[in-house]
Amino acid sequence: MTAQRKTSVALISDAAPFAIRAERASDVVAREALLDACFGANRHTRTCQRLRDGRAPAEGLAFSVVRQGRLVATVRLWHVSAGGKPALVLGPLAVDASCRELGIGAALMSHALAAAKARGHGAVILLGDAPYYARFGFSALMTGELALPGPFERDRLLGLELRAGALDGAWGMIAPSGAAAQARLRPAGKARRLATHAA
Ligand SMILES: CC(C)(COP(=O)(O)OP(=O)(O)OC[C@H]1O[C@@H](n2cnc3c(N)ncnc32)[C@H](O)[C@@H]1OP(=O)(O)O)[C@@H](O)C(=O)NCCC(=O)NCCS
Repeated sequence: MTAQRKTSVALISDAAPFAIRAERASDVVAREALLDACFGANRHTRTCQRLRDGRAPAEGLAFSVVRQGRLVATVRLWHVSAGGKPALVLGPLAVDASCRELGIGAALMSHALAAAKARGHGAVILLGDAPYYARFGFSALMTGELALPGPFERDRLLGLELRAGALDGAWGMIAPSGAAAQARLRPAGKARRLATHAA
């Protein structure tokens, strides 16, 4: 509900509208810069990063928000095994500091969760601020028996069932289960130059 209200406000006021679309390979530079700005340069040391290292996001579940031609928000979801139960981990979610409180975060969360549900996923887990994520239905009720591969604050480990019972009996370690990320391709020009030198 909050998402709809906030999105409407953004669209009918003087504020520029925003568009949510599937993440593109060309988003990488702007996306990395946004994440550095939001989470700091040491963000790769965070516990949740252990669930993403070397993995690709879940199919069709990485989104960017563009506003006035600029990437201003990002979210991704990742396959995990939550103590043996298939689930998704959501994160990172980030909105550019200049575009906050416009409903972009809520719209992006609602979009991503609807897309995950439409694809048949049963549950989403994340590590984040309960006062923010409660509005989307996340709580610590179903994650009390789960653990992450590193230090974490128990009251920030939150879950949402997209299908009733999807996290019933979830117990143990949350572990990555997604496909391996594809190695980044060398830009064509550079590859050609290297080939020329090698010849
Ligand atoms: C958290 C974040 C994604 C919210 O994005 P946003 O586009 O500003 O969010 P929205 O406009 O949809 O919602 C704003 C509402 O969320 C609340 N909110 C924002 N961050 C919050 C937090 N950490 N805890 C509780 N409430 C929060 C605001 O007070 C506001 O409340 P209101 O609806 O009652 O006015 C954004 O602040 C951000 O990127 N922060 C830095 C990175 C981060 O912390 N990511 C989340 C990891 S836990």
